[in-house]
Amino acid sequence: MATIRYFKGDVFHTPSDGKLEYIEEALIQVDDAGIITKVTAKTDQGYESELAKASENLQALSAGQCFLPGFVDLHVHAPQWPQAGIALDEPLNVWLDECTFPLEAKYADPAFAKAVYQDLVAQLLARGTTTVLYFATIHLEASLQLAKTCAALGQRGLVGKVVMDDPQANPAFYRDASTEEALADTERFIQEVQAIAKTAPQGVYPVVTPRFVPSCTDKGLAGLGALAEKYDVHVQTHCSEGQWEHDFVQERFGKTDTEVLQDFGLLREKAVMAHGNFISPADGARFVESGAAVAHCPISNAYFANGVIPIKRLKEQGVTIGLGTDISGGFSPNLYDNIKQAVMSSRMLEDGVDVTLPQNTRGVADSRISVIDAFSLATKGGGEALKLPVGVIKEGYAFDVQVIDTRQKENPLPDFGVFTSPEARLQKILYLATMQNIRQVWVQGKKVHEKRGE
Ligand code: GUN
Ligand code: FE
Repeated sequence: MATIRYFKGDVFHTPSDGKLEYIEEALIQVDDAGIITKVTAKTDQGYESELAKASENLQALSAGQCFLPGFVDLHVHAPQWPQAGIALDEPLNVWLDECTFPLEAKYADPAFAKAVYQDLVAQLLARGTTTVLYFATIHLEASLQLAKTCAALGQRGLVGKVVMDDPQANPAFYRDASTEEALADTERFIQEVQAIAKTAPQGVYPVVTPRFVPSCTDKGLAGLGALAEKYDVHVQTHCSEGQWEHDFVQERFGKTDTEVLQDFGLLREKAVMAHGNFISPADGARFVESGAAVAHCPISNAYFANGVIPIKRLKEQGVTIGLGTDISGGFSPNLYDNIKQAVMSSRMLEDGVDVTLPQNTRGVADSRISVIDAFSLATKGGGEALKLPVGVIKEGYAFDVQVIDTRQKENPLPDFGVFTSPEARLQKILYLATMQNIRQVWVQGKKVHEKRGE
């Protein structure tokens, strides 16, 4: 007979966008497949009798602990992990040519790839990130290594072999040998990751991944659109990240990135476009219509975007948006840091930055988002972008959670019996928690990280 496991503790999540739901001492039932079958609140009828059934299958959190949904990181360049925190003083195109491509070229060596990827996946899990949409490199073997690492360490990983097939646009030491080979490798990659997925109950998925429009030929982009359609898999790329990319694509096609991606069949239901800083209202409508989503990468954008994305406007238009770290354009592997930066960037957009201008002309009115909105992007928004049942703690969703300990000795959050509302408690966690406070991390009902010590 199937066993049901029971977890009891306070839950904070946003089942509808930006709206906090707090469930005090929730009783969460999880089946053998790691799926939540029922969540009962203390005030619900039958709570006591459900609790009595739990007996030895119950795991209850202690005082000061709570459940948050695991985070969904919609944009990580796994091979750039050794470069996190460095080389951030150049514009994007120089950074790519001088730092990033020489580093990514090293992944021709699968052993190097394995060492980096094992460290990165474990580090992301330890920061509460349970689902990740990854760019790997152009190399088939090393990209498969990343999918295998996610499968082995229990993370829900969506992985793309990167395509850079234009010999005019990419250096000889780091590009696909030809368009034909790039497409053939992508197809093989899709099939092999689908085979690896059979060993990973939490799910490991192949992703069609043109690096961005400037690095691909028209034939390459069209071929990738056709593969996405043939296998009905996820798609990811960079879209309208900075002024340089925006202008480059305008010059080559006389269109925006969004229009070009749509023309090649890449703007689709399970597509996640990184950044999207320059998407216009008309582009936003194309996102809404196609079901494609934006990965907002606020730390990276502070360095490379040349502007601040109007998240509030896009959300109001109905665009699906989640959060990404963009390692290593973004220096931090931590989505908590990106939640904070998403709020701060939106405030600077609203107020404006040039104090020599009159206050009422300095910013873009009605642009700010709250820290609960940003938390919602990192959880529910990510799940919606990927069309996966993750990011919310409710029936039918995967049991992907972080157990937060606000009384952890190395970083106890200030609690003097004041500011005890659920909203204040969550705000404090989002602004002040560090990885010290992340006691356990679960993916699809399996414990994949436990903090050592107290
Ligand atoms: N555009 C194309 N490649 C990259 C990359 O590796 N990082 C970022 N931030 N933007 C890109
Ligand atoms: Fe990126």
